[in-house]
Amino acid sequence: MSITNEAELAGMKKASEAVAHTLKAMSDYAKPGMTTKQLDEYGAKVLSDFGAKSAPYLTYKFPGWTCISVNNEFCHGIPSDNRILNEGDLINIDVSAELEGYWSDNGNSFVLGKDINQHQKLVDASKEILHKAIYNIKGGVRISDIGLLIETEAKKRGYKVIENLTGHGVGKSLHEEPHEIANYRDRLNLTRFRKNSVVAIETFISTTSSYAETLKDGWTMVGNKGGFMAQHEHTIVVTDGAPMILTEMNGVWN
Ligand code: CO
Ligand code: CO
Repeated sequence: MSITNEAELAGMKKASEAVAHTLKAMSDYAKPGMTTKQLDEYGAKVLSDFGAKSAPYLTYKFPGWTCISVNNEFCHGIPSDNRILNEGDLINIDVSAELEGYWSDNGNSFVLGKDINQHQKLVDASKEILHKAIYNIKGGVRISDIGLLIETEAKKRGYKVIENLTGHGVGKSLHEEPHEIANYRDRLNLTRFRKNSVVAIETFISTTSSYAETLKDGWTMVGNKGGFMAQHEHTIVVTDGAPMILTEMNGVWN
């Protein structure tokens, strides 16, 4: 969406506060021995207290309130009674929701407890790259130039990017124009970021894979060549200068 008045900005701020607070609360609440279903139920409670509803459920009938993906799972993991979290797991939580007609989206990859499986380096790379990408976005910048930046920064650190997962416009629905904010230089995409538009910027930094594939459950995505992936996501408003980061309080950069 494009912000045209104060009420719309206030609505986006409120929805963003709900998803950012929920993401932070869930990331803090995650503990070894807990199931991903328990973690999702906690997130559902926090979102509900804001009056917010799960965006993936409303939009796609996703079987959960939030997406929780563990280790080899890249994204869209279904909260499950059978998935127990362990020390050192690489966890991704993605929280998107609708509140009073406004939609916001954010995500966080983190290592649970001690980094016994050496995932922290990947996580830190993804966070840094998201930061750099976001602070290079302003009205008039080509989407493909931000893709090139993300890809270049990933390669510099010895990582790859996932080519078939992208950031996107957000605001009046979960996914809207521009639909593909890729993590690589898409030469065919001549679109530029527009001032006052609301977009969800997300990294998909991976160790070995370049594509994500859907498992038989119809949701969970894993790498075409396995390995691990870190994703960090903020919903922002594009301006003439530094973007307004609506989900900043999710704590991804703390
Ligand atoms: Co998301
Ligand atoms: Co998103």
